Amino acid sequence: MDSLLIKGGVPLHGEVQISGAKNAVLPIMAATLLTAEPCVIHRVPDLSDVKFMGKILNSLGAEVSFEGDTLTVCARRIKGHGDYELIRKMRGSICILGPLLARLRKAEVSQPGGCVIGTRPIDLHLKGLRALGAKIEIEAGYIRARAARLAGTEIFLGGRAGPTVLGTANIMTAAVLAEGVTIIESAACEPEVMDLAQFLNAMGAKIQGAGSPTITITGVKELHGAEHEVIPDRIEAATFALAAAVTGGEITIHGAKPEHLNAVIDKLREAGVKLERRGAALLVKRGSRLQPVDVTTLPYAGFPTDVQAQMMTLMCLTPGISIITERIFESRFSHVAELGRLGADISIEGPSAIVKGGKRLSGAPVMASDLRASAALVLAGLAAKGTTQVNRIYHLDRGYEKIDDKLRKLGGRIERIKET
Ligand code: UD1
Repeated sequence: MDSLLIKGGVPLHGEVQISGAKNAVLPIMAATLLTAEPCVIHRVPDLSDVKFMGKILNSLGAEVSFEGDTLTVCARRIKGHGDYELIRKMRGSICILGPLLARLRKAEVSQPGGCVIGTRPIDLHLKGLRALGAKIEIEAGYIRARAARLAGTEIFLGGRAGPTVLGTANIMTAAVLAEGVTIIESAACEPEVMDLAQFLNAMGAKIQGAGSPTITITGVKELHGAEHEVIPDRIEAATFALAAAVTGGEITIHGAKPEHLNAVIDKLREAGVKLERRGAALLVKRGSRLQPVDVTTLPYAGFPTDVQAQMMTLMCLTPGISIITERIFESRFSHVAELGRLGADISIEGPSAIVKGGKRLSGAPVMASDLRASAALVLAGLAAKGTTQVNRIYHLDRGYEKIDDKLRKLGGRIERIKET
C-alpha cells in the first residue's frame, strides 16, 4: 500500500483549486440510474470512490465513461441486482437502492457493513422506503426491496443523531417516480442534498425545499437525461484552510463556495485564523496568536463531522485546552492515538476529546484508519518537526483529489512512496 513521506515545518503558500464534492457526486451518479437517457456530469473529482461507483453502475448494466472531469452515464437497460462484493465495499453505494427501486420497482443490494467511525445503520433509509410502499427483507447479507407501486406520503426521517444525508438522498430518489406527493420531514439540509435535488429537477423531477428540513416531492411518470455541474467540495476546502492555519502559511482557495463553510469559517476565526473573501476566492492565513476553542459536530449548518479530525490537528498546536464533542458518529476518534505518536496530548471523555495543545509535534510513522483521520495526520505531518510517514493512504485517495500534488504546489515537502 502507498504511503506519504512528509518533511514538516514548511509554511504552505500559494493557490489551490477545489475539486467537485465527493459526497455530492456519489448520489448524483446513483441517480443517473433513474433514466434510460444519457446524463452528463461535470466537475467530477478523480477519486477512487468515484471510480468505484462507476464500476457499480457498470455492473448494473450502465455505460459509464470518464473524459477529464466529465462523466457520462447511460443506463439504457439495467438490472436490479448489484454485485455483492462490489457494493459491500463502499458505504456510499447504499444510495443506489432508491433509484433502482424507483425505476425497476425492485432492488437487491448488499447490506453495507459498519466501519471504523461507527456502526452506520440504515434503519432510516428502510423506514422511508417502506413508507413509500416498498416491501423490504434482509436476507443473506442482501437488502431485497420490491414495490408493486410507490405512493407519496409523509415521512419523518429524523434519527438518534439527527437527519441522515444518504437516507434523505435515497428517499428523494425513490419518491421522484412515486405516485402523488411525498413530504420528507427532518430531512438533511446538507448542500450535497441540494445539489442532488438540482440534478433531479434538471432530469424533470419536481422537488421543492431541498436544503431545508422539509422537502416536498411531487412524483412524475418519467425522468429524462440531464447535464449538471457538481458543487465544490466543502470538506476539501476546509482541509486546505486548516493546512494554511497549521503550517502558519497563507493559502488562497479558489473554486470553493464560502457560504457552505460558515460554521468552519466562524470557528477558525474564533481560533485566531484570518479568513478573507477575495472576490470568489478565500484567503486563509494564521493570525498572530492561536486561541483554544470548543467545537461540537452537528448536522449542517453546524460544524461538519468530516472536518472534526483536521480541526483537532489545529487544536494540538494551540496553547491551552480545546474540546471537540462528536455528536454524529459514536467512534470517530481513531486519529487520536495516531496524533499521540506525534506528541499530541489528547484524552477521550465520552463523546468528547480534550486536547492540551501548544507543544511542537515531531514526526513519526503513523497509520491512516479512515478518510478524514488520514487528512488530520497529513496536516499534523506538515506542521511537525522532522519526517512523518503516513501509511495506508488509500483512504485519502478515496476522498481527496491529488492531495499530494496540491500540497506540493503549495510548497509542502511531501512524497508518495509507491508500494513495490
Ligand atoms: C454522509 C457522508 C459522510 C458524513 C455524514 C454526516 C456521504 C457519502 N457520506 O454519510 O461523509 O460524515 O453524511 O455528515 O455522503 N443513522 C441512523 N440510521 C440511518 C442512517 C444514519 O441512525 O438509517 C445515523 C448514523 O449512524 C449517524 C447519523 O445518523 O449517527 C448521520 O449519518 P448519515 O447522515 O446517514 O451519514 P451518511 O449519509 O452515511
